[in-house]
Amino acid sequence: MKTLLTGGAGYIGSHTAVAMLDAGHEVAVVDNYVNSSAEAIARVEKITGKKVALYEADVADKPRMMEILKAEMPDCIIHFAGLKAVGESVAMPVEYYRNNIDTTLTLLECMRELGLTNIVFSSSATVYGEDNVPPFTEDAPKGMCTNPYGWTKWMQEQMLTDAAKASAAECEKLKAAGKTAGKDEWKSPLSVVLLRYFNPVGAHESGLIGEDPQGIPNNLMPFISQVAVGRRDHLTVFGDDYDTPDGTCRRDYIHVMDLAEGHVKAAEYILGKRSEAEEESGKPLGGTEVFNLGTGSPYSVLEMVAAFGRACGHAVAYEVGARRAGDVQDSWADAEKARAVLGWQASRGIDEICRDAWNWQSHNPHGYKE
Ligand code: NAD
Ligand code: WQD
Repeated sequence: MKTLLTGGAGYIGSHTAVAMLDAGHEVAVVDNYVNSSAEAIARVEKITGKKVALYEADVADKPRMMEILKAEMPDCIIHFAGLKAVGESVAMPVEYYRNNIDTTLTLLECMRELGLTNIVFSSSATVYGEDNVPPFTEDAPKGMCTNPYGWTKWMQEQMLTDAAKASAAECEKLKAAGKTAGKDEWKSPLSVVLLRYFNPVGAHESGLIGEDPQGIPNNLMPFISQVAVGRRDHLTVFGDDYDTPDGTCRRDYIHVMDLAEGHVKAAEYILGKRSEAEEESGKPLGGTEVFNLGTGSPYSVLEMVAAFGRACGHAVAYEVGARRAGDVQDSWADAEKARAVLGWQASRGIDEICRDAWNWQSHNPHGYKE
């Protein structure tokens, strides 16, 4: 299978590139390096011993994307490109809506013109909002998001779902009328897989690629890693007065290589591969399917701090501070659908997560910069 990964030089994209290449698929990457560098792809090639077709481009630049997609004609696009910092999205909503929505609309227009019909989208558990009770199943209602970043994911899910539905209706209509599709019509029904990630953490076991946040990390694991390696003094735990066993929030932390392997399964599924439990083997999806990618097991902030201390061999300094605005107390997946339909489940636990995160951080204390 030929895959094209938008945002493929980023954290999850680069790990997915490794998993795709390891599974014997071809990989092209489009990235404008707004939050990454080409070095990540050089390392993907080093890990796998395989070549990646690399394009520097903005996914919202339609003429350029038409050129790239025409040259590659991928069987499946995996759309990672996007801005993802929750706090920044509150301060810069216009930039977030422009970038995240525009990249998806541009891709949809290009795909329709070129007759490309398969797309896997990076969504987030953040679309479940605050009112659902974990474990979240895929049919739990999409909730009210607490920030513009979350809304962009919510909206992109909706846009892709609506486009898939309309494409199927249009193809039926054309077929009934005995007509062939024009430039602005779908040649076959669009197939969409929405993947709702929980909390991706860890790194490839080689220690060559990993998460490389710019500035002060917003997320727990990169912050803990930077404290452990001596780049920061201590972690602030955002509240220990929640209604949980140790008072800190619980999340579903998933090893990024498990997540990456989930993308391989999703892309294979979209092209017609089915687990044995499913009957209609060999049939392209045609429509929208949504999967949680999580482990189903929650860990608290203090459990993660303790696990990281075990992995790096010394305690990670922390202080308890105030709650962070917008945090939900508990979030974890019901991961059963991905297991049953994709034949995928996470296999790495928190000790492997912390071991691999520490391996990456201790060998690359300043990320890709040195
Ligand atoms: P990342 O920032 O490391 O990767 C995103 C990549 O997209 C970067 O390489 C960036 O340079 C690129 N990019 C952004 N806008 C672009 C544009 N207009 N044109 C071309 N490239 C562009 O983030 P990540 O953690 O790897 O996340 C990948 C995707 O998964 C994002 O869509 C993110 O919202 C989503 N997601 C991430 C998490 C998480 O916790 N990391 C959780 C849920 C969903
Ligand atoms: C995890 C836990 C914090 C930092 C975010 C996005 C979500 C998704 C994944 C993209 C929470 C606590 C954190 C710190 C802390 N991203 N914490 N001190 O908030 O679950 O999810 O990333 O889609 O949309 O919101 O992840 O890693 O920020 O926080 O105590 O310095 O760690 O309060 O309980 P979160 P996180």
